[in-house]
Amino acid sequence: MEARLSLAVLVVAVLAAATVSALSDTEASYIAQRQLLSLEESDGNLPEDFAFDIHVDVTFANERLRRAYVAFQAWRKAIYSDPKNFTGGWVGPDVCNYFGVTCATALDDPNVNVVASVDLNGGDIAGYLPTELGMLTDIAVFHINSNRFCGIIPETFSRLTILHEFDVSNNRFVGGFPAVVLKIPVLKYVDIRFNNFDGELPPGLFDKSFDAIVVNNNRFVGFIPENFGNSTASLVVLANNQFVGCIPRSVGRMADTLDELMLLNNRLDGCIPPELGELVNTTVVDVSGNALVGTLPDELTNMTRLEQLDVSRNLLAGAVAEPVCKLPALAKFSFANNYFKEEAVACVPTVDGEVALDDLGNCLAGRPGQKTTLECGPVLARPVDCRTNVCSARPSKPTSVTPTPVPKPLKPTPVIKPPTKTETPLIGPQLPPPPPQKPETPPPKASAPELGPINAAHFK
Ligand SMILES: *[C@@H]1O[C@H](CO)[C@@H](O)[C@H](O)[C@H]1NC(C)=O
Ligand SMILES: *[C@@H]1O[C@H](CO)[C@@H](O)[C@H](O)[C@H]1NC(C)=O
Ligand SMILES: *[C@@H]1O[C@H](CO)[C@@H](O)[C@H](O)[C@H]1NC(C)=O
Ligand SMILES: *[C@@H]1O[C@H](CO)[C@@H](O)[C@H](O)[C@H]1NC(C)=O
Repeated sequence: MEARLSLAVLVVAVLAAATVSALSDTEASYIAQRQLLSLEESDGNLPEDFAFDIHVDVTFANERLRRAYVAFQAWRKAIYSDPKNFTGGWVGPDVCNYFGVTCATALDDPNVNVVASVDLNGGDIAGYLPTELGMLTDIAVFHINSNRFCGIIPETFSRLTILHEFDVSNNRFVGGFPAVVLKIPVLKYVDIRFNNFDGELPPGLFDKSFDAIVVNNNRFVGFIPENFGNSTASLVVLANNQFVGCIPRSVGRMADTLDELMLLNNRLDGCIPPELGELVNTTVVDVSGNALVGTLPDELTNMTRLEQLDVSRNLLAGAVAEPVCKLPALAKFSFANNYFKEEAVACVPTVDGEVALDDLGNCLAGRPGQKTTLECGPVLARPVDCRTNVCSARPSKPTSVTPTPVPKPLKPTPVIKPPTKTETPLIGPQLPPPPPQKPETPPPKASAPELGPINAAHFK
């Protein structure tokens, strides 16, 4: 009898665990509401001496650990569901032994131990980020990817003066681009992909000395800022949003640093700027799934390090010339689903060719799997001259600060499953993985128990 009962309990627990990862919109908005209430109480900020006002009945090795304790306790209160029990052990003064927390010697004082990193990747935790997290002023790494955190990024993150890596990808954050990120003085790695951020990208994003800008799979709209090329990032991923207009000609200015450029699945138009060819050390360029017109610029043949080029699913026409297909490092080149009407012999896909080529869905006479004459005719009758082609107009100075309304999608957003594992794939399984997690990120200290409490009561 007892055995049967516990089996029933187990079944219920397993069923409950199977459903926790879906956070309904009601639940998400409830949690965001809680955050708003707490922001109102604290005015969205914290007094500098906030931690001193809090009476904590335990002793700490140093004041910084006491402040960290206050931050973690506030965070624990802002967590509504923790199915893997990551934070179950976040009690007592020994914050350095909290799951997901790593301590190290302070950079500015070899005599004190401080909280140096927070890593709750893959926790499936639902909750919000409280303003008190701004007290974790010694962290270099903040990784909470693949959870169900809602609401906004608190302003107090600007106090994290040595934060290098900010990864909040694959959560449920909302609002405009989190401008506070631009105020974190030494930040290098910005990863906010797979959230519900909307509005336009602030130009300031490209004036910072970031190493990686990863904002794919949000709801960003508008033009890519003209100062795009000011960026020093080696990885720039704007894919799967709703950006419009031309690829800024300043793109060529990133030649010194840019390794991978992912602009796929937006609504970019105009010609591919010849300046793209200035990216002589870039290895991956993907502009597929946009509305680019005109011909491939000759300057692409300067990209001698290019390994992967994808211009498929656009409105490109003209010829695909031999020098592009024979770029020395090229391994993969898709120009499928455009309106090309000529391709060099070197560009014809072969079974055993050195370069994986794809020419399907074009207007290539004598090639299999091409568009019909009916489809090709109207486009080929009106070739676009890229010397005179201008992009759809950029707005002059914005007249007001009202947020940009999100336009109705013209076509359904491509279905790309968001990552579920701790190792978040960049965009989809077929694309290169994100840069390796930096060595200073330690592996989790202990494996969490399989099943944890489900605080469903919070949502009632
Ligand atoms: C969660 O973890 C804490 C501390 O490790 C433990 O005391 C508690 O029993 C765990 N809860 C569940 C439901 O496993
Ligand atoms: C960025 O680019 C703009 C125009 O493209 C330029 O005026 C500005 O000085 C640049 N800023 C930095 C920090 O390089
Ligand atoms: C490209 O790389 C080479 C060698 O690694 C370097 O000498 C050159 O300056 C780089 N070009 C640019 C534009 O950064
Ligand atoms: C880049 O390409 C253009 C056009 O093909 C050419 O005129 C120019 O000399 C090239 N620049 C370099 C650095 O190779």
